[in-house]
Amino acid sequence: MAAWYPWIVLLHLACAIVFVGAVAFEVLVLEGLHARLGPDAMERIEQAVMERARRFMPFVVALLFLSGFALFDIRCDGVSCVGSRFGFWLLLKVALAFGVLGVFASAILAGARGRMNPCRFRTTHRIILAMMIGIVFLAKAMFVL
Ligand code: HEM
Repeated sequence: MAAWYPWIVLLHLACAIVFVGAVAFEVLVLEGLHARLGPDAMERIEQAVMERARRFMPFVVALLFLSGFALFDIRCDGVSCVGSRFGFWLLLKVALAFGVLGVFASAILAGARGRMNPCRFRTTHRIILAMMIGIVFLAKAMFVL
């Protein structure tokens, strides 16, 4: 599998860009439109965004996690790094990633059941973005911390 390492990192990075980019767009751009467009228009836009995201984001997230497990196996040499300083930061990154997955999955389910409202939409995206900033920071810093 190590021979595939550069391609797996590329896949992982590409999926991370799509996932993190979509959430950053929602928090930094969409949220700023509330005052201009009003609650009704925003609710319709947010519902449309959720519907669109539900179509392809689960696939992107699945690839992100699958490639993440492969990278974990390569970088940690199975589970040999557990107990080391690097292993600690890597496990913290993975724990944050699972936190994101949990919040993301509950938002997708709430959207599908019609239980998503603008307030929950905003809070969910802010939490996910904050966790993602931590994940991306750790993804690079774990090698030098
Ligand atoms: C929300 C989910 C995740 C995001 C946003 C994310 C993001 C990233 C980013 C941006 C990198 C840097 C890639 C590069 O060097 O160009 C990275 C590296 C890495 N990720 Fe993730 N990741 C996620 C989930 C996971 C999971 C679930 C695992 C393991 C089970 C994982 C394991 C790794 C490993 C081992 C590296 C180091 C790769 C290397 O530089 O050799 N990631 N991640």
